[in-house]
Amino acid sequence: MSNRVVIFDTTLRDGEQSPGFSMSAGEKLEMARQLARLGVDVIEAGFPVSSPGELEAVQHIARGVRGPAICALARTDPRDIDLAWEAVRGAEHPRIHTFIATSPIHMERKLRMTPDEVRLHTQRAVARARSLVADVEFSAEDATRSDPEFLCRIFDDAIASGATTINIPDTVGYALPDEFGTLVRTVLERVPGMDRVTVSVHCHNDLGLATANTLAGLAAGARQVEGTINGTGERAGNVALEEVIMAVATRREALGLSTAIETTQLHPTSRLLCALTGNDVQPNKAVVGANAFAHEAGIHQHGVLMDRRTYEIMTPESIGLPHNRLVLGKHSGRHAFQKVLEDEGVRLGAEALDGAFARFKELCDRKKRVTLKEIVALVEELRITPAASGGGAR
Ligand code: KIV
Ligand code: ZN
Repeated sequence: MSNRVVIFDTTLRDGEQSPGFSMSAGEKLEMARQLARLGVDVIEAGFPVSSPGELEAVQHIARGVRGPAICALARTDPRDIDLAWEAVRGAEHPRIHTFIATSPIHMERKLRMTPDEVRLHTQRAVARARSLVADVEFSAEDATRSDPEFLCRIFDDAIASGATTINIPDTVGYALPDEFGTLVRTVLERVPGMDRVTVSVHCHNDLGLATANTLAGLAAGARQVEGTINGTGERAGNVALEEVIMAVATRREALGLSTAIETTQLHPTSRLLCALTGNDVQPNKAVVGANAFAHEAGIHQHGVLMDRRTYEIMTPESIGLPHNRLVLGKHSGRHAFQKVLEDEGVRLGAEALDGAFARFKELCDRKKRVTLKEIVALVEELRITPAASGGGAR
């Protein structure tokens, strides 16, 4: 089995489905171009049947982006499949992704279909898609709440009908890592043709377990990961691709896996998505949050100044940030205070530094956040000029 993990980005489909994340056709194209720079293998560009504008947006991406496969989502209805093909037929590498729910609750309450009807829909949809394009993905929606035996039968049907990728979604973010790994392993062991197709995982984050579940799926033998930039997506979102990618890169020896991602494009890609949608990520977001490479506590700052590996398991440069950030606050130490001032061109002698540092700490006790501008102003207020400080030039 190859150790190369296929990265399938669905920021423009599942990610766009979350409230406040929709983009115009031009914005989707700009994002798709950045995803190509990032080096993702597959871009799921949209769900063409959802609106004429969506169909057009996917067509623009299919014609305008080279490199990754361009994929469109379709239910099992023939019209969905045909529209998905209309959307991606201009792509260098087109893919149709068709799905149907397989859990009892979805089949009975939502689809109102019997399991046999669901099997028939699957066979027809995959065969129709395969008559149009060589690259066909099939997903069993709500796989983690489906009967594993039925799931195996459906996957067998999909492969027999021509599917080339089989996706196992944890649609409602319900699985625990052990359970999810076992499910992927079971499917791989029991479905005869599974070794001839790419096995994919698609984890939602309702319990905050999407990254753990995705890694469990990879450990069990999956070799495609579906997710989004910044973890956008339905409800609590999809797995954040930057987390999986950096886990694979940072723990390469432990996991024994690789991707084709240019990791230095992760930060620019995350920032572009924030700019296009007007939604920022939380400051403590893993990998791409504003604080992911920021250090405020004195002990941490001292450690990082001596050797950044003391508190950084990956470098900011590896995700495309020019450098880490020392944040000055009430937990900061004298070393960091001096370093930040020096970066601003302010060099102080020992005595002047002590005086400025004491004033800075007083200010921190009074104010929740002290900006760099305020710190520089404080130093100037103390009339610490190059001559007065005796410590060099500004
Ligand atoms: O979460 C899900 O099940 C999906 C499918 C369409 C793959 O997004
Ligand atoms: Zn999903």
